Amino acid sequence: VSPGRVKPALPAAYFISKGFSAMLKIAPSILSADFARLGEEIRSIETADYLHFDVMDGLFVPNISIGIPVLQSVRKITDMVLDVHLMITDPLRYVSDFLSAGADILVFHIESQAPDKTYETIRRVRAQGARVGLSLRPKTPWDILLPYLDELDLVLVMTVEPGFGGQAFMEDQLPKIAALRREIDRRGLKCELEVDGGINPDTARLCVEAGADVLVAGSAVFKAQDRAAMIASLRRAGEGSR
Ligand code: DX5
Ligand code: ZN
Repeated sequence: VSPGRVKPALPAAYFISKGFSAMLKIAPSILSADFARLGEEIRSIETADYLHFDVMDGLFVPNISIGIPVLQSVRKITDMVLDVHLMITDPLRYVSDFLSAGADILVFHIESQAPDKTYETIRRVRAQGARVGLSLRPKTPWDILLPYLDELDLVLVMTVEPGFGGQAFMEDQLPKIAALRREIDRRGLKCELEVDGGINPDTARLCVEAGADVLVAGSAVFKAQDRAAMIASLRRAGEGSR
């Protein structure tokens, strides 16, 4: 490459031919960011694919994080895909608020409300033109999603108990990821399979081997000196594992 010339990006076919996981997406969680410098913190992760935004209400989980006004501010300063993870009771009540605030993907917990409200929440997110996902706590069995899977853009498997960053990865969730991968492929769905909690380059590899294609990482990315390098090494964790 001659000086001053930008090297062209490699085509996706190159990665596929190399057996890389070309479709692997990285989603840094800003829960581990410095909220007093949020704009700069977001700039530092823009080589990632999604920005993961954790909302906690102190009821569904024993912690309170950030909500609608922060999401509005974030929306104004970035074009990243905003992947909003609602850890709240009664998500149906807040669908319009989060979508108007700028969520691109709205993910809520299957355990947070009754099945009829789950269907209604999915329908309402879709009707407003956004993507919708359902999340599972570690103790929730994967097959609870069977009736909803065709309607979802994303499934989020929690690999820690939701509520806090910096916890240890739960290896016992790997069979759940594998079972969901098999069912998504069996049905030929485009539904993404995201994992969240305790993800670092080692656990990322296990998750990608099990079939995950979106990796959330909070402390691994924000505690790294060089965040772009950490995002790249999480991406590399998928190379050759699928
Ligand atoms: C936990 C949140 C996660 C959290 C992950 O309830 O849903 O998104 O930020 O943090 P790490 O990657 O540090 O486990
Ligand atoms: Zn999350």
